Amino acid sequence: MGKLVGTAVQSSFLGDSRYTGVFTRHFNYVTAEYEMKWDPIERAQGVESFSGGDAIVAFAAAQGMQVKGHALVWHGSVPAWANTLAPAAFRTAFENHIRSVASHYRGRVLAWDVVNEAVADDGSGLRDTVFRQKLGDTYIADAFRLARDADPQALLFYNDYSGEGLGAKSNRIYDLVKSLLAQGVPIDGVGLQMHVTATNPPPDASIASNMRRLADLGLLVNISEMDVRLRDVPGTQQTKLDVQKNVYHSIVGLCVAEPRCHAVTFWGFTDAHSWIDAQFGADDPLLCDEQYAAKPAFFGVLDAFRRR
Ligand code: XIL
Repeated sequence: MGKLVGTAVQSSFLGDSRYTGVFTRHFNYVTAEYEMKWDPIERAQGVESFSGGDAIVAFAAAQGMQVKGHALVWHGSVPAWANTLAPAAFRTAFENHIRSVASHYRGRVLAWDVVNEAVADDGSGLRDTVFRQKLGDTYIADAFRLARDADPQALLFYNDYSGEGLGAKSNRIYDLVKSLLAQGVPIDGVGLQMHVTATNPPPDASIASNMRRLADLGLLVNISEMDVRLRDVPGTQQTKLDVQKNVYHSIVGLCVAEPRCHAVTFWGFTDAHSWIDAQFGADDPLLCDEQYAAKPAFFGVLDAFRRR
């Protein structure tokens, strides 16, 4: 099975020919880094703006690329006005949002991240979000059903972080998606975000086992937001880059080796544009440097796709 190779982008970068040159040459799958989330689409209640996402989708269509929508339900992008709604009004807004956005992009996205990061970091249960507080735990099943009704063709994913290898959190994610399937909820796959450090990535065997047990449920898996921080690797910059290359090589190789892994998406491709610097401190987590030159990591990923 051929794998899709994706990157997150922002529409504002698409006017930069140096950016688009690398983007169109190396990727066939694209995800909006934030412009298809709830807050940017509906900053004011009832007033939707699809311009950013539409620009990305149009660019992708012109290039023959596939698109993954990201993300219909995420606590990190709830519009301020929605947080203050009473439960009944929140439910209406939630349902309208999913229906409206999934319908808007119907036929133009291959897949959606329907629910993002709903499991608590310690794996003890669901994360305590505004969705859970106002709608109860069944909001997850509701979201997938609403998305399927609005866009029957799109592959529907649950997406999360720190559940890449085996452990308490991935066990909880596994139980969640298994129970959704048992209830007949339309879910097609699980995204493993893969924001990792070069010093301490989840072990390969652990990621492979986790992918396999999800695949055994009949689900697809994908690596959905990969980046590899190198700052804490001891030694010279060259050493850091080499360790980073090995991590990219081995983890991407796990998707290549897993028949049910259908895509690897990187959370950007140039160190000039990465969320990591703002979130975790200055770093060089992506495949190309700030001048858009291929780093060792780039060749590690190429080797992985060539099964070398
Ligand atoms: C991040 C983007 O990279 C930022 O630009 C934005 O401001 C906030 O969101 N997990 C996710 C992504 O699922 O949506 C997040 O993206 C990174 C963590």
